[in-house]
Amino acid sequence: MKRDIDWSKLGFHYTEPEYIVRSAYHEGAWEEPYATKDKYLHLHVSATCLQYGQEAFEGLKAFRGVDGKIRIFRWKENAKRMAKSAEGLFMEPVPEEIFGKAIHLALEKNIDLVPPYGTGATLYFRPLLIGTTPRLGVGPGRDFEFIVIPSPIGPYYPGKFHCTTFIVNRHVDRAAPLGTGQFKVGGNYASSFRATEAAHALGYDCLFLDAKHHRYIDECSAANFIGIKGNEYLTPRSSAILPSITNDSLMTLAKERGMKVTRRHIRLEELSEMSEGAACGTACVISPIDKVLDPEKGKTYLFGNEPGPVLSELYHALRDIQFGRAEDTHHWCEIVEN
Ligand SMILES: Cc1ncc(COP(=O)(O)O)c(C=O)c1O
Repeated sequence: MKRDIDWSKLGFHYTEPEYIVRSAYHEGAWEEPYATKDKYLHLHVSATCLQYGQEAFEGLKAFRGVDGKIRIFRWKENAKRMAKSAEGLFMEPVPEEIFGKAIHLALEKNIDLVPPYGTGATLYFRPLLIGTTPRLGVGPGRDFEFIVIPSPIGPYYPGKFHCTTFIVNRHVDRAAPLGTGQFKVGGNYASSFRATEAAHALGYDCLFLDAKHHRYIDECSAANFIGIKGNEYLTPRSSAILPSITNDSLMTLAKERGMKVTRRHIRLEELSEMSEGAACGTACVISPIDKVLDPEKGKTYLFGNEPGPVLSELYHALRDIQFGRAEDTHHWCEIVEN
């Protein structure tokens, strides 16, 4: 169905799709994914997702390229990460085949929702896995539902590529070192809201430190951290952060450009030795940081008001691959005929 959407006005929020895709896991087998217009679930009030937070999700995008073709970016990596999140919460992993079928069906059934090239907008997919077995005794369920919710979203930067300010948080730990931080599960986000909303109320985004020492950089709200120090691309090593697919792609592009790429513990004070800093993730690709405030220590780390040259180049290099303007030498995009 053709929809009258003003793509240039589309913000970074949910637009109701025509169809979602569902597949249930019951008695040891996944059902064939099917499309439905119904956006409501008939869910038992004691389902393990509601009672004990048995829930994991993902986020990925399809891009309409300069050549008019649709490209889905690295969806198999999202499928692998969702399988790890499922294992992390004692859920049945969604097989790659089911994950892929559901994404492709969601795309096919909502093809008119893929924004045109040149608008900067994309079709975002939100795969979701929930435990549906009714239980009151604490424990995992045996039944699950996998859902893919597509939604067109506007460009993260409607105008100019702009910078964000972060504030260091020492009041709320998002995830424990051996907890669920490495998985994309709802509980991590719910537990970070106290910190992120407090930062937003002050007009900033929230920088999480490692939960054990509050000494090393963990993550930027819902994105990985990247710092540039000379010719080095630095990003935190931590058992409590989500392995970002964007960060992985940017690391490959940085290496190709002759940069040294290092993943290690990064002390907060090392920010003063970096020329550029950014948050990275599917939503924004790269969100450059102008400054990081640490009010408790009375320190401010400044990167400057304009995005730096190294991260700008990496941002454009990845966007060019996603929109088909540059050769996809790593085979990151799957081209879908339409
Ligand atoms: C906590 C967190 N870290 C990092 C990322 C970035 O991951 P990706 O690049 O795969 O979107 C996300 C977004 O998915 C996130 O929610």
